[in-house]
Order: sequence, then structure tokens, then C-alpha cells
Amino acid sequence: MRTQVAIIGSGPSGLLLGQLLSGAGIDSVILDRASQQHILDRVRAGVLETGTVGVINDAGAGRRLHAEALIHGGFSLAFDGRDHRIDLADLTGGKHVTVYGQTEVTHDLMDAREASGALSIYAADKVEPHDFDTSAPFVTFEKDGVTQRIDCDYIAGCDGFHGASRQAVPDEAIRTYEKIYPFGWLGLLAEVPPVHHELIYANHPRGFALCSMRSPTRSRYYIQVREGESVAAWNDARFWDELRRRLPAHHAEAVVTGPSFEKSIAPLRSFVAEPMRFGRLFLVGDAAHIVPPTGAKGLNLAASDVHYLFEGLRDHYRDRSDAGLDAYSERALARVWKAVRFSWWMTTMLHRFPQTSAFDQKVQEAELDYLTHSRAAATVLAENYVGLPY
Ligand code: APR
Ligand code: PHB
Repeated sequence: MRTQVAIIGSGPSGLLLGQLLSGAGIDSVILDRASQQHILDRVRAGVLETGTVGVINDAGAGRRLHAEALIHGGFSLAFDGRDHRIDLADLTGGKHVTVYGQTEVTHDLMDAREASGALSIYAADKVEPHDFDTSAPFVTFEKDGVTQRIDCDYIAGCDGFHGASRQAVPDEAIRTYEKIYPFGWLGLLAEVPPVHHELIYANHPRGFALCSMRSPTRSRYYIQVREGESVAAWNDARFWDELRRRLPAHHAEAVVTGPSFEKSIAPLRSFVAEPMRFGRLFLVGDAAHIVPPTGAKGLNLAASDVHYLFEGLRDHYRDRSDAGLDAYSERALARVWKAVRFSWWMTTMLHRFPQTSAFDQKVQEAELDYLTHSRAAATVLAENYVGLPY
């Protein structure tokens, strides 16, 4: 088999790239080790920057999003028993974020790919990139016990943090940066109306809590839990009780509870791999970087990486110019590091860290107080939250 761009991974990164390439008449094959259903069953974040919505539109997958997504012009920071609204629209000159679950984005992109007729191979075993330091790279995989090979011009490693692409790069060619946070997020999804019409990020002595949503009738809540905590220790009643305790009284009283239909714990980490290009292999999205979910930047960074890589590939095929491909790693990383900084800062400001000193606690309180009293400080938060320009 031969294609122009072999894409490893059918998460948002791989699917977005595949759609943009199809739109430009560039052929791709997407390979994923998971089944399509398994990918659609994953619950991830749901706050999209305007730039991300633009990339989804360009990918031809924005129709349902525009009909169903919620536009949010602000969110709340809750601490010390009170509630402070960050007015995104006012602070950023009219910008907003779009609340639409990543699961839905993935669904829409898979539908668009199917409609375009481009090939995706799911449940592919042992997917491996080869010879990407030469002009004739290829990818091998096993399907139904048979080894197959796809020759290509370029390989896009869109296979997430645990994928094969980054692992195929020799140690001496890559540098990684990592920070592990000493806690996780326990998330719960339930068919109940959200406690508030906007998101609430709460800092409480018992730990962080986040009230989010997927629609006017579906809520997504999170609470900070200790490292190594197991989901089994949290029945729904315990979760709802703990969530309420971490919210200001007027919100706690308004929480509508109901049976959960998804509950899981995610660890928090920051990770960056540099560079993001190795010859004819490009790393995209979670394959190259991870941010803690506090700033909701994971999917948004995947979209900006895809935007830069698509421009590079389009210019290569259309104009025979490799300037965009040559600049990919540097352009993507410049934006990645700013989101890494923002996500680390939001995480540090809003969580309770084990063994925090009295000094660190006071600094955290001063930070929150400053944000709620300085328009300049709130503007820094708002411009990062709605998304820095591409
Ligand atoms: N071979 C083939 N496919 C693989 C392999 C492998 N060895 N390893 C992982 N994959 C697939 C996974 O099954 C998954 O479908 O790669 C895909 C990676 O998708 P994501 O983890 O969603 O990563 P990405 O597309 O970069 O999305 C980034 O979306 O998933 C969130 O937290 C993520 O918000 C971030 C954003
Ligand atoms: C979510 O809705 O899942 C969500 C929202 C905002 C975040 C993280 C997750 O910062």
C-alpha cells in the first residue's frame, strides 16, 4: 500500500490532520491500535478555544458543533466561601470559549472521514514507523495476524502519550521535560443539569473541585483526589458529598445529583518532548506533550499542532516549499510551552498540595486575591484561557 501521509493514531490530532489533508487533495491513511468504539468511549475534556473551532470547521466537521455547542463568555473562581467571575468577553475584547465534549468532536471527525472515503484502519496491532530519517519512510502493522506495510512521504505521529511514534525516536535525538503532580482528578459524568450555567473552578482546603458540563442536561464534575486513590473507593454518594463540601454554600445547595454513567481517575502531569520533528516523522498532540487538565488545553494544543503541520504539508505539495515543514517544530513548541506554563500555573494556584508550607499557602491565597482585584492579572488569565493566537 502507498499513501502520501501515514497517520498513526485516530484521536483528535490524527482525525483533524486527516480531514485537512483530504480537503487539500492530499492522501492519507489513519492507523489506530484501538477499535473505533473504544476511542469513542473515552471521556475527555470539553472546552474549545476559538482557534480549535476554526480548525474543526476547516476540517469540515463543524456542523453539529455549531448547532449544539454552548458558548461561554466567562467562568467562576470559587475560594474562601465566595465566587468571583472571570468575564472572558469583557477582558479579551469579546472572545469566548466553546463547550462541546471531545467525544463529540471525535465522533463528528470520524463521520466526516467516512464521508470523504479516506482509509482508516482500526484495531491494527504492532503499528511501527520505519526509516523516517531517509526519504523513503514506511509504517508496518499487523491486521488479523497478517503483517502489512504502507510506504509514504511523511509519517504523522498522532498516537498519544503512550504511542509508538515517540518511542521509535533514538534517545539521543530527543529531550524530554516532565513534572508529575502529587494528586489526580476523579471525574464523574451524570445526566443531571449543571449546578451553574458557567464552569466553576474551586480551591478549597479539602482540595480542588471543578463543575463543568456537556449540555444543559449533562454535567461533568471533578474533584482532586490523593495519588494512588482507587475509583472503587468512591461510590456516587461519596462523590456528591465531597463535591458539595468543596463548593461555596449557594452552589453546594444547588447541585442536582443523579446516577453516574462514567467515573474515572486521571493522573496530572506536564510533559514536553523536543523537537517535534525527526526527519520525515512529525509528533503531534499528546504524542509530544501533556498538560494537566486544569487549563483545558490538551485538545486545543493538538489543534494548533495540526494547524501548523497541515500548513507545512500543504505548502510542500502545492508550492514545493518546505519552509513550513522546517518551521513546524519551532512554531508548535513556542505555543506549547506557553500553554504548559499556563496549565502549570492554574494547577498550582487551584490545588491543595500535600505538605504545603504555611508560606506556600499564603502565597496561593495572595495570588487568588490579586486575580480578583487586578484587572491586569485577570486579563492574563483570560487571554490564556480563551487561547493565545496561532
Ligand atoms: N499504535 C497505533 N495507535 C496508537 C498507538 C500505537 N502504538 N498508541 C496509541 N494509539 C492511538 C490511541 O488508541 C488513540 O486513539 O492513538 C490515539 C491517540 O489519541 P489521543 O490520546 O486522543 O491523542 P491526541 O489525538 O493527540 O489528542 C490530544 O485529546 O485525547 C485528548 O488528552 C488528549 O486532550 C488531548 C487531546
Ligand atoms: C471538562 O469539561 O471535562 C473540563 C472542563 C474544563 C477543564 C477540564 C475539563 O479545565
